[in-house]
Amino acid sequence: MALNLDAIGKKISPISKDYTWKDAVLYALGVGAGFSDLEYCYEKELKVLPTFSMAAIIDFFWLVGTTSNVNPAGVLHGEQEIIFHSSIPPEGTLTTEGKITHYYDKGKDKGALILAESDTFHSNGKKLFTSIISIFARLDGGFGGENSPKKEVKFPNRDPDFEVEALPSADQPLLYRLSGDIFPLHVDPDFARTSGFEKPIMHGLCTHGYACRALIHSLVPGEPEKVRRFNCRFSKALYPGTPIRTLIWKTKEGKAIWRTINAKTKEVVIDNGVFEYGDIPKDEIRFDDRVAIVTGAGGGLGQAYALELAKKGAKIVVNDMGGDRNGSGKGSASPADKVVKEIRKLGGKAVANYDNVATPEGGENIVKTALDTFGTVDILINNAGILRDKSFLKTEPKNWQTVLDVHLNGAYNVSRPAFRVMREKGYGRIVMTTSTSGLYGNFGQANYSAAKMALVGLMNTLKLEGKKYNILVNTVAPLATTRLTEDVFPQDFIEKAKPEFVTPLVIYLCSDRCPVSGNIYNAGMGCFSRTAVITGPGAVVGDANRLPTVEAIMDNLDKISTIKNGKEYSHLNDYVGDALTAFSSPDRSDEKSQHRFKSVSAVFDAMPNAFIPDASAGLDVVFQYSISGKDGGDWFCVVKDNICIVESGTNEKPTCTLKIADTDFLDMMNGMLIPMKAYTSGKLKIEGDIMKSQLIEKLFKLY
Ligand code: NAI
Repeated sequence: MALNLDAIGKKISPISKDYTWKDAVLYALGVGAGFSDLEYCYEKELKVLPTFSMAAIIDFFWLVGTTSNVNPAGVLHGEQEIIFHSSIPPEGTLTTEGKITHYYDKGKDKGALILAESDTFHSNGKKLFTSIISIFARLDGGFGGENSPKKEVKFPNRDPDFEVEALPSADQPLLYRLSGDIFPLHVDPDFARTSGFEKPIMHGLCTHGYACRALIHSLVPGEPEKVRRFNCRFSKALYPGTPIRTLIWKTKEGKAIWRTINAKTKEVVIDNGVFEYGDIPKDEIRFDDRVAIVTGAGGGLGQAYALELAKKGAKIVVNDMGGDRNGSGKGSASPADKVVKEIRKLGGKAVANYDNVATPEGGENIVKTALDTFGTVDILINNAGILRDKSFLKTEPKNWQTVLDVHLNGAYNVSRPAFRVMREKGYGRIVMTTSTSGLYGNFGQANYSAAKMALVGLMNTLKLEGKKYNILVNTVAPLATTRLTEDVFPQDFIEKAKPEFVTPLVIYLCSDRCPVSGNIYNAGMGCFSRTAVITGPGAVVGDANRLPTVEAIMDNLDKISTIKNGKEYSHLNDYVGDALTAFSSPDRSDEKSQHRFKSVSAVFDAMPNAFIPDASAGLDVVFQYSISGKDGGDWFCVVKDNICIVESGTNEKPTCTLKIADTDFLDMMNGMLIPMKAYTSGKLKIEGDIMKSQLIEKLFKLY
């Protein structure tokens, strides 16, 4: 039995849970609530304990385990972090979706750690909480992965500010398990003994609920809705009926650290606790636990982005090599250091990096700084920039190249290693920085315009390659008074065009609330707009058999040039599909061809005879068809050594898989639906090697 390392980054099917006030009360009773905190137990003005969240999504925990193929005998809850975005209503439906983000290997006899992250939404549409769980898989170590980064909470060398004692009853797990965690370890004496315990043990999450009550009671009495973050590590098993004590140190306003001990033996049963509290601003966009790289963040726009992201909880790599405005000069650590200092003063986390984005090594090292310091990268803002303005004929190769190196190659150099990390974790936000000079043109900036517009091309493809991995890539054309533009804007523009007026849009594009990818936005002075590449309806010139003449182009120039009723394409296939269908609308009058195939299976019966062996020289491919609908099913077609074999069922190693509904498939096979159109309209989905799927039309003459 080995861990399923391929599961990393893949979405775990959403789980859904309906609950009523009785579930919330049952949970509260399970974690020791009673008349002393009646607000959790009485349906009149009921408040839901924040840690009810974990009991409500316990199935997600098990799904992470089964998806990972973990050995269930060795499963323990390792760490638990919950970030609250909104208080939990007393009833409704919770929907949770998430994925496995990391597998860490502690060693053959030491076990493995599985980390998974999920978001839970209420049926009222609100995101309620984000959970990061770590499963300690005692029996699954030694698979050759890296060890987990060390995370220790430093406890002050003084007495706790609060100590809250509680006595879970000897039967507590019997009550707690009714909230969903019915694992036999907490109820079955035989199971507990074979797992190495004297008797059934407390659920770690039950003690966790006791601790949460203690923290609320001490820091935000009667206001569970103010709990913003609740983290801890489960460190030791506890038998029911043992007194526990939660020790709490308030470290600053809104933050405390805590641990829960066995009050008899003084052993720590829950450690490394962090509790953050305060008002949760409505729909606030936060970046807690997100790691952002901002290039060129030592001043101007980059500095504004870095500060705002840090204020909202992100950990920042402040990159800046500190050169002159035109990219010359020795470079200096001071701009990046200054911004890091400012972030730390605000209570944020940041690290400086002085690498040059213009080199591949620089890009790798910037990302390495993020990994070494904060363990990951979630956000990248490619912002570093220089100017070397000259009219075109005066733009010598060096000035051309240097500007392209910083802007275009710089974005490539940093995005590539960052994309690798984001792809692995199944999350990423990348913002490119273009310019109105590139989008619309500007005298004296040929090098800069070319570099800035090239970034739009880079975005267009990254948005496609990143889609499957929840990596969204957008582009901003800012307008702000900075060192770069100080001599461009008149004096009275300086306040109006502060970088902070650009920041909100960029921050939004970096957030998990941002649903868009592949968009270009103008932002500055409080004005925001989207700009796009629009393709006009165009004109069909000729009949696709004879080459159009130059004169025919001239005669049709108005129609060719207009962008009235234009269209925005999000993939080249969409455009090619339209271009293909401009000439070839299927001949619907041909009744015979329309009804040639009456069933899906008839198509596959006909396929061997429709095969053209000469077109298959050197090919070794398997086309898998997955046809939905009541006439559907699975078939595959093996083409090898100039032979074609068609069978029903699924092949283990398909070159590509074509997924389509039965009616659309029949339309396609009867010549009523052009395959490219089916693909670009989403009716036909192709997984695997898309290029090879295009051979099908050449290999079979079906209509
Ligand atoms: P800025 O000069 O204040 O900031 C750019 C930063 O990038 C500087 O701190 C600089 O040291 C750093 N940098 C330059 N080359 C670097 C390299 N090779 N490696 C690492 N860091 C490097 O300028 P501003 O205005 O804040 O520019 C930010 C971005 O916005 C640039 O990409 C710029 O082209 C773009 N932009 C700015 C506009 C504006 O109105 N300010 C308009 C359109 C685009």
